[in-house]
Amino acid sequence: MPSSPVYIVTGGAGFIGANLACALVARESDAHVVVIDDFSKGSYANIVEAFGRAGLGAFCGSVTPQSVADLDWDQALEALEPRAVFHLGAITDTLEFDERVMLRANTEPWVEILSACIGTETPLVYASSGATYGSPPQGEQRIPFPVEAAGQPNNVYGFSKWLMDVEVVRLFRERKEAGAKLPHVVGLRYFNVFGPGEARKGKMASMAYHLTGQMLRGQRPRIFKMGEHARDQVFVDDVVSCTLAAAGLGATSDPVPGIYNTGSGQTTTFNQIVGAINEALGTDLEPEYIDMPEAMVATYQHYTCADIGQTKLGLGWTPEHDPCEATRAYAALLRDEAARNAPLKA
Ligand SMILES: NC(=O)c1ccc[n+]([C@@H]2O[C@H](COP(=O)([O-])OP(=O)(O)OC[C@H]3O[C@@H](n4cnc5c(N)ncnc54)[C@H](O)[C@@H]3O)[C@@H](O)[C@H]2O)c1
Repeated sequence: MPSSPVYIVTGGAGFIGANLACALVARESDAHVVVIDDFSKGSYANIVEAFGRAGLGAFCGSVTPQSVADLDWDQALEALEPRAVFHLGAITDTLEFDERVMLRANTEPWVEILSACIGTETPLVYASSGATYGSPPQGEQRIPFPVEAAGQPNNVYGFSKWLMDVEVVRLFRERKEAGAKLPHVVGLRYFNVFGPGEARKGKMASMAYHLTGQMLRGQRPRIFKMGEHARDQVFVDDVVSCTLAAAGLGATSDPVPGIYNTGSGQTTTFNQIVGAINEALGTDLEPEYIDMPEAMVATYQHYTCADIGQTKLGLGWTPEHDPCEATRAYAALLRDEAARNAPLKA
């Protein structure tokens, strides 16, 4: 039996996964984090930098550079006896249009991971997505999305996550009908996550990241007309604390199994993001409003907002960061990083 508490983080070399690996060690210094990542998108540098930012020194866990699809999950869980599995590994490029590639990567391994965790009674937390909602009627009404409103995703990425949720709902229904206890499985529909560690996501990085980059280069921030598209932008530290709470590592040791929204519970318009960045950088750059390409109009999420009422009740979790304040702090951090990496010549 392992002497230190073991946690498995799939996708642990990615943006959120590396921040999560770090948070596990920050709350339990002898935690042994096993990262399982195929490094299709992740990098060792995300892990090193996350531990550096948190002042935790060197990463001393292990890394299995393998796809979650290629792992023998029963064997791995028996050997490692993890306290929890956090399954975040996925293709996260919402512009990946090869449906077979997306479904094979994100959905196909899911049943095996799920059944191995249930079979070994290992708590399992997995990343679903706000993309499972597509454009529900609540978006038109500009009101928060309740968990029940999902199921009409606008892209195959959202569909791949939706299929994971469907599997869990089916499993829970069967257990309830049989009068059995629900296994510790929690799905988290992350909304638009932003914060330190996302630089290697390229075009999939947040609006806060991209707009800060443009403005640091002295360019006017480019946003779709008239900047009033509104998204639930949630700071990565809140996403990590929600993920820990879902495993029973937060305020309650006994979270209620289920599927939950993970968002700030508020919307932030793109104009507001630009305003927050201007404040942080001491600039006054007016947005350059651009037309949304015709092909995007039908599938674009013009409004998203997580209804986090159930998340608060079931997981005992509340976000701590106001999105605009967090954007200001994040933009200042990006400015300082840029200054360190590319000091201006006198
Ligand atoms: N960032 C967001 O705004 C957001 C929003 C909703 C949901 N999510 C979900 O959160 C999770 C983490 O996202 P992120 O933003 O950190 O993305 P990311 O791309 O930075 O991280 C994903 C990681 O998974 C790895 N990976 C991909 N396929 C894999 C496979 N088959 N086996 C093992 N590893 C694999 C990649 O190499 C990468 O390191 C993902 O499941 C994503 O769908 C993220």
